[in-house]
Amino acid sequence: MIIKSADKCYVENDQGIKLIDTTMGSGAQIIGHNNPLIKKIVEQVESGTIYTIPNIHISEVNSCLKNHINPEFHDEYIFCSSGTEANMRAIRLARAYTGKNIIGRFHGGWHGGIDGFLEEHPNNKGVPLQVNKLFKVLPYNDDKCLDSITSDMAAVIIEPVQGSNPRSDIKEFLTKIRERCTEKGVLLIFDEIMTGFRLSSRGGSGLFQITPDLVTYGKVLGGGFPIGAVGGKRSIMETKNVFYGGTFSANPLSMYAAKLMLESIVNKTHVKYDHLNNAGETFRNELNEFFTSQKKKMRAIGCGPINRIIFTDKFITNRKDRDLYEPADAQLVFSQKLKDLNIFVNGNGLYHFSMSHTPDVINNIIESIKIGSEK
Ligand SMILES: Cc1ncc(COP(=O)(O)O)c(C=O)c1O
Repeated sequence: MIIKSADKCYVENDQGIKLIDTTMGSGAQIIGHNNPLIKKIVEQVESGTIYTIPNIHISEVNSCLKNHINPEFHDEYIFCSSGTEANMRAIRLARAYTGKNIIGRFHGGWHGGIDGFLEEHPNNKGVPLQVNKLFKVLPYNDDKCLDSITSDMAAVIIEPVQGSNPRSDIKEFLTKIRERCTEKGVLLIFDEIMTGFRLSSRGGSGLFQITPDLVTYGKVLGGGFPIGAVGGKRSIMETKNVFYGGTFSANPLSMYAAKLMLESIVNKTHVKYDHLNNAGETFRNELNEFFTSQKKKMRAIGCGPINRIIFTDKFITNRKDRDLYEPADAQLVFSQKLKDLNIFVNGNGLYHFSMSHTPDVINNIIESIKIGSEK
């Protein structure tokens, strides 16, 4: 499908068909497409879009992150242009700070298309096998992983909520990871590219009350413009001789967009977490009631506004369970059925609700899923 335009929670394709968008720029567009806040970006376009050297918005974004989001972190973040790049920089920084090379990551996680994160990906050609030796894949939501977090590792990277099995019952597991990392002198990196400013104003870290050593952001922070950011404890952020630059890093458009987004989150103007959480809760409750009463092998799972449908009636603890119980093509086949009902779900099967998803729109999605499940 080719998209021609987008407005609020709708996309219009090149055939002139309007669909409800459940993807919202892979979670980046939390307010809604074509929203009044981000339209202000034109003010920055008129002042130039790239200056090569730092611009006036950077210090405002830094102080907003310091004062309202992560007061315990250093007051300067590293900015770049995507989530992938933020994670690349975070693991480089972790290696530089600790003098160690091995990075632990979890099965079912996604941290972008960096070579070392692609071992289990079906499209991993071109990645030298030697790279995989620098990464250790750990079982997710399974205490067996704890013994595998060893002092020879530089860092462990984890999404507070994984897109492949979004869940809210994960605080205890995350807490154990935090404790084990501290015990073994291994840095804990929270990849909050998807969860940052979405699960709460302080992301998954705020929701679960766990402080990592480093954090990465992207998506929502840029309000629809390309962005990545790395923040962390002062001693780590001050590590010398680590390379970070890039032509578009901290460009004035993305930084102005980030300033507008952060102000809106702090002042509770365009982003309201009650609205986002209610949308997710209604989606899961109503669909699970239907799936159970109709004996469907389907369930709605999620955390706040991050949701997905799984095609099994069994409880899953991680992506491994999902792969075990769910027919391999189920997500794609169902996305196609919903597309025929004018609901756009991305191939990865994630439903990202935004401020523009009103109760009526959520209800429309729910009813379409019910119809789709009968076909
Ligand atoms: C948790 C997580 N980390 C990293 C990334 C990569 O971000 P980007 O696509 O901006 O490079 C994504 C993107 O989907 C993500 O969800």
